[in-house]
Amino acid sequence: MCRQGEEQKKLDVLSNEVFIKALVSSGRTSILVSEEDEEATFVEPSRRGKYCVVFDPLDGSSNIDCGVSIGTIFGIYTVKDTNEPTLNDVLQPGKNMVAAGYCMYGSSCMLVLSTGEGVNGFTLDPSLGEFILTHPDIKTPKKGKIYSVNEGNAKNWDEPTAKYVDNCKFPKDKAPAKSLRYVGSMVADVHRTFLYGGIFMYPADKKSPNGKLRVLYEVFPMSFLMEQAGGQAFTGKERALDLDPKSIHERSPIFLGSYDDVEEIKELYAAHEKKN
Ligand code: AHG
Ligand code: MN
Ligand code: MN
Repeated sequence: MCRQGEEQKKLDVLSNEVFIKALVSSGRTSILVSEEDEEATFVEPSRRGKYCVVFDPLDGSSNIDCGVSIGTIFGIYTVKDTNEPTLNDVLQPGKNMVAAGYCMYGSSCMLVLSTGEGVNGFTLDPSLGEFILTHPDIKTPKKGKIYSVNEGNAKNWDEPTAKYVDNCKFPKDKAPAKSLRYVGSMVADVHRTFLYGGIFMYPADKKSPNGKLRVLYEVFPMSFLMEQAGGQAFTGKERALDLDPKSIHERSPIFLGSYDDVEEIKELYAAHEKKN
């Protein structure tokens, strides 16, 4: 409830303030990059720690008013020199992350986390105020029956993406057609992909040649987790975690999910490359 005179802050802005305050006061961070802040936050020397955190404080914000799951996505790098933290400490390939994870705020509150030794899922027990290990060692199925993409962009897709989606709907072999599931919150769509398998895609298109999703705090953390869960993550050109970001808010196309499903789209891009 908004008190008299206090402006009603959007949840994105509020959640960003909560995370920035908590991360700075932890004394464990030197640099923070948030989707909500144009510039990186450099923590004052007396409160610096050895980590850089890149995060999307509220992912799927278009879904807040209709009650569809939203979440928070984060990735963590270590700082080379805490006396002189620079942007180069965060402009690193995703494969250099030491940890990544997301919270999903839906029918339950889940934390899915990897520190490079597999993926574990925790569910908040509100009566205890603790996160309980409910999904130990998450492994995504090798192949899935679901594809997840915004079909509304179909007219702008490139040939390999269009071909892949066509194969999902009209399989060349006797396999059944895949189901389309897309809620428009990356956290919710990727969480389902982890547990049920299949592929999540935000491809490049004629209007957005680099796709829509941000490299540092959407593509990298979800790609890190997906590889740790036995899946893979591809940009249309290369392994997503090999991307070398040049700016903190840059975007990349992304195809991530079950190993075999992503392999199929990699083959289509490779064939397209050969033809041109
Ligand atoms: P955010 O709310 O942090 O801006 O992220 C929204 C993203 C992502 O969550 C989702 O996968 C994608 O936007 C949906 O985009 P479209 O509505 O264009 O499909
Ligand atoms: Mn987001
Ligand atoms: Mn966001």
